Amino acid sequence: MHDTRFTFTSRGLSFAAVGAAFAGLLVVGCADGLTVKQQPAGDRPKAMSGAISSLERGSESNAYPLNLPSTDKLRGRAAYTVNCQSCHGTYYTAAEKADSAKDLALADGHVDKNKVIGPLKEEGRYPAVATKNGPDFMSRDWRFQRTPGQIFQLLAEGSAPEKLGLPKGKRLQHPGPVPGPDGKPLRNADGTLKMEMGRGWLDFMEISRGGVTYTPGDPVPIWDAIFYVWSRSIAGHSVTRFKEVWDVYGQNCNVCHGTIGKGDGPAARTLYPLPFNFTNRKAMAETTDEFLFWRISEGGQFTKIPESIQQTMTPQALSLYVHQWSAMPAWRGVLSDDQRWMAVDGVRSKSYDHE
Ligand code: HEC
Ligand code: HEC
Repeated sequence: MHDTRFTFTSRGLSFAAVGAAFAGLLVVGCADGLTVKQQPAGDRPKAMSGAISSLERGSESNAYPLNLPSTDKLRGRAAYTVNCQSCHGTYYTAAEKADSAKDLALADGHVDKNKVIGPLKEEGRYPAVATKNGPDFMSRDWRFQRTPGQIFQLLAEGSAPEKLGLPKGKRLQHPGPVPGPDGKPLRNADGTLKMEMGRGWLDFMEISRGGVTYTPGDPVPIWDAIFYVWSRSIAGHSVTRFKEVWDVYGQNCNVCHGTIGKGDGPAARTLYPLPFNFTNRKAMAETTDEFLFWRISEGGQFTKIPESIQQTMTPQALSLYVHQWSAMPAWRGVLSDDQRWMAVDGVRSKSYDHE
């Protein structure tokens, strides 16, 4: 659905604007190698223009906007609840579960259970995780070989290449709403949306703000929903998991990568290459968890990137972001497996907000 017409970056756009203003020309082929072409009038992101200025293709197989998902934590949950929960079920955080377990334990001894469970159910806090379809977002298995950009593409367009970087082969598919003749989604007899495999959500994310609103072409609600499910494996793990994640990062990585993650910690100045900037959302959207875990384990002194990782990331991403001989320490043997996974989540939390 999207093609190379959407190779706009904010940098590319301003470049084009400058070129157009001064020379009356459109700049094709910027300094950074990205191509900016004119967008045919009346074509696609008409609706997007109000919401977001750029939908970028990281590579041929990987489209995503550079804009951050909303920093309003409730939006991810809201986007998920309205659009995704019907199939993927409800996820309670460990804190919510503990909360309702406490209420239930009280109920066991003292009160009529139904009186307690009833209101909890009404508030949506009854601890039942129903996942009829798709992966269990509480685990990390579903995400560790995917880049956020790939998942974005899967949801926005309804399909994505299974293996990034390999042009032909199986595509991943995901169900989404079916558009009717008027552009609105078709509905089943019971009022629910008609869904089909291979349909994208880009034009059909519903956000409920005093009624049902569609946000045609706005990628942000999709990002919000993705990072909501992304963070389920942390929030669902234990009540203290987020804090532990930030502690692992804070105690071991801040010194070089910086508190914000910009690669500007106090020890960074003397290093070349500089410590990686985790707020580079383009890089992070093209990076798998598997790669991050491996990189954190092996540090900068590796000789070869394992084949399995090479297959989950594009060759472009690997050649752009990975430097072989750097001062990045190897954390295998220093941090446990679990701590290195927490370090992965710590790194992720620098580019995307987690709930
Ligand atoms: C109509 C039911 C349905 C709805 C609605 C739905 N999903 Fe899914 N989802 C599935 C199914 C089925 C799979 C498994 C697909 C497969 O393995 O082939 C899946 C898989 C996924 C995956 C894992 C993809 C992967 O990498 O393999 C993610 C992430 C996901 N869904 C997120 C979402 C989000 C976010 C929304 C809301 C915008 C959503 N889903 C709405 C049915 C649904
Ligand atoms: C002594 C300074 C130093 C410390 C401490 C340090 N790093 Fe690094 N890190 C680096 C340098 C230098 C690089 C190389 C950057 C490059 O290749 O462009 C790097 C690269 C990385 C990368 C690779 C990013 C990519 O996409 O290629 C990851 C991931 C990473 N560090 C995570 C961590 C984590 C997590 C910690 C804490 C557990 C940590 N680092 C601690 C200096 C450090």
